[in-house]
Amino acid sequence: MIDLHCHILPGIDDGAKTLGDSLAMARIAVADGIHTLACTPHIYPGMCMNDGTGIAHAISTLQAELDRHGIALKLVMGADVHLVPGLIDGLRSGRVPTLNGSGYFLLEPSHTTPPPRLEASVLALIQAGYTPIITHPERLSWVESHYPVFLRLIEHGAWMQVTAGSLTGVFGKRARYWGERLIGEGHTHLLATDAHSTGRRLPRLSEGLEVARRLVGSTEANRLVNERPAAVLKNLPPQDFGSIEKETGRPSALSSWFFRRRAAA
Ligand SMILES: [Fe+2]
Repeated sequence: MIDLHCHILPGIDDGAKTLGDSLAMARIAVADGIHTLACTPHIYPGMCMNDGTGIAHAISTLQAELDRHGIALKLVMGADVHLVPGLIDGLRSGRVPTLNGSGYFLLEPSHTTPPPRLEASVLALIQAGYTPIITHPERLSWVESHYPVFLRLIEHGAWMQVTAGSLTGVFGKRARYWGERLIGEGHTHLLATDAHSTGRRLPRLSEGLEVARRLVGSTEANRLVNERPAAVLKNLPPQDFGSIEKETGRPSALSSWFFRRRAAA
């Protein structure tokens, strides 16, 4: 499997703190069946001042350590990018890295507030030739009031990434419900770990993948962690991989619980 969202680089954001943490995370990922992993530290001006040059250097240092320790994990370039003015210029200059130099990049909206002009900003990025991958919409506090906005973003050409831990309850029942719904309704392109540590938010895809399998069947679940991430890394056209197939699709017990709870509220 390929994990396109992981905060494994040590000491440059709120993910791994030390090299030891990074190596431990890498061992967990490999044991879970992940062979390739994108290093995606936050780029958030004023809080996490990472850039392409620094991230590339940190990746080559960590890759050398992985190789030295015999950990069979291939690292590729990326970033978890916040929506800020000048983003297109940053992407064009390489200051803001895309995923493995492709046209795809991770775009992380604010967790608590819908960004003003989100739709227009995403459209501008697409028109500039990029495919924004919106990270973990299921965990945003405003997803419930803006679900149609996410569906429109997909129509425009954006991709959605659900976090594996959301499907196993790591982020609570609400994130689990929205994660299941985004996948079950065929609105999710990628499943990733967004791992930050070896603890609660660890780099493991397999349990979340099992939930996805129950929701959409094996073929589409495989696309979430293999076929589409591989297409991203090869910079293949998004329109060739964007369509989402539902083989089985049945409402989960959790979805039923959420609807009952909302109906009773
Ligand atoms: Fe992240």
